[in-house]
Amino acid sequence: MLRMLTAGESHGPALTVVIDGVPAGLRLDAARDIDPDLRRRQGGHGRGKRQQIEEDHAHITGGVRGGRTLGSPVAIGVENRDWENWRVPMQIEEAGFRRKRVTRVRPGHADLAGMLKFSFDDARDALERASARETAARVAAGAVARTLLREIGIVVRSAVVRIGDVTAAIPDAEQLAAAEASPVRCADTSASQRMVAAIDAARSDGDTLGGTAYVVAHGVPAGLGSYTQWDRRLDGLIAQALCSIPSVKAVEIGDAVVAAASRGSSVHDLPRWDSERGFHHLTNRQGGLTGGVSDGEDVWALAHFKPISTLLSPLRSIDTATGEEANAHYERSDICVVPAGAVVAEAMLAWVLAVAAVDKFGGDTVSELRRAAAEHARASTALR
Ligand SMILES: Cc1cc2nc3c(=O)[nH]c(=O)nc-3n(C[C@H](O)[C@H](O)[C@H](O)COP(=O)(O)O)c2cc1C
Repeated sequence: MLRMLTAGESHGPALTVVIDGVPAGLRLDAARDIDPDLRRRQGGHGRGKRQQIEEDHAHITGGVRGGRTLGSPVAIGVENRDWENWRVPMQIEEAGFRRKRVTRVRPGHADLAGMLKFSFDDARDALERASARETAARVAAGAVARTLLREIGIVVRSAVVRIGDVTAAIPDAEQLAAAEASPVRCADTSASQRMVAAIDAARSDGDTLGGTAYVVAHGVPAGLGSYTQWDRRLDGLIAQALCSIPSVKAVEIGDAVVAAASRGSSVHDLPRWDSERGFHHLTNRQGGLTGGVSDGEDVWALAHFKPISTLLSPLRSIDTATGEEANAHYERSDICVVPAGAVVAEAMLAWVLAVAAVDKFGGDTVSELRRAAAEHARASTALR
């Protein structure tokens, strides 16, 4: 069983992720396999000054020897360079600790809900962990998942298809490459330029923007996930994983919203069989998932991000110390996180698929996993 936990505050010394259950024998190198994704998460037009301070690197501190996983837990640290600027208010030790309370809570952030949950009188105690800086640790875990998925031919990619009211069509596999060169990770050049302009306009108005990321996995074998129990349905697991990304408020599997407004005759993917491809479908509107099980097509979903809540022109809120109305607290912030969020969405989809693949194909070693996946691929093309 593959599982992971992350730890660390946004302005603390470092983020940590522990990944348990990675099969032994996986070639894993931080600079080659993890750092490129950490860099992709830091990029994107609309990010704030924090990304100029940080230069994320993964430090593997457990579970790997001589460039290969040992089957023991893989531990990875990602340093927060900004910690230097926060040593006093984020000090770990008690002696000499001085805090500057945050009490003018930001509407839409976890400030107030976190204070109410843990009985804090300082929103910083909540916001430091609620902050999406934590997603750097998830991207590191996602990179390990992707490295494992590559062994069985699964590749996860993404593109931005909406920022504010600027939309782009969902790109096909060939068009997806263009997203990597776009400052907003959008595969359509013209929409990309309009998205940049929309972000700039929001910035000069002291405002923020949300949008939509498309995330897709190619090469997913049929049979991952299960309809036999509610909590093993892969569509549900993907929806949860994507919705757990800070500021994602809706997840759509395949063309779900269009389907909800259509007739059944125009929605369902028709299966076919031929000796070359085996079982396949004429279309892939269902996002490669039926009954919570992968059906052999690309698995795809849309993650809808709300506009982030820290506004340069703050919203009217309250001061929790006085109960009086006040402008919300402001601290250095992004304007639009959808391009970075798309990279986090890739990591989360990769993670869920890796968990499902290890669950289905098992094995203590990568070669056992590969063998089981190859055998399953052979068996699933045959007529029955
Ligand atoms: C990559 C990424 C970066 C983010 N950066 C910020 C930020 O700079 N300022 C902010 O207010 N929210 C930011 N957010 C969103 C908040 O973390 C999120 O809105 C907050 O934790 C409350 O959670 P919720 O929106 O899911 O309810 C970011 C989200 C992501 C995915």
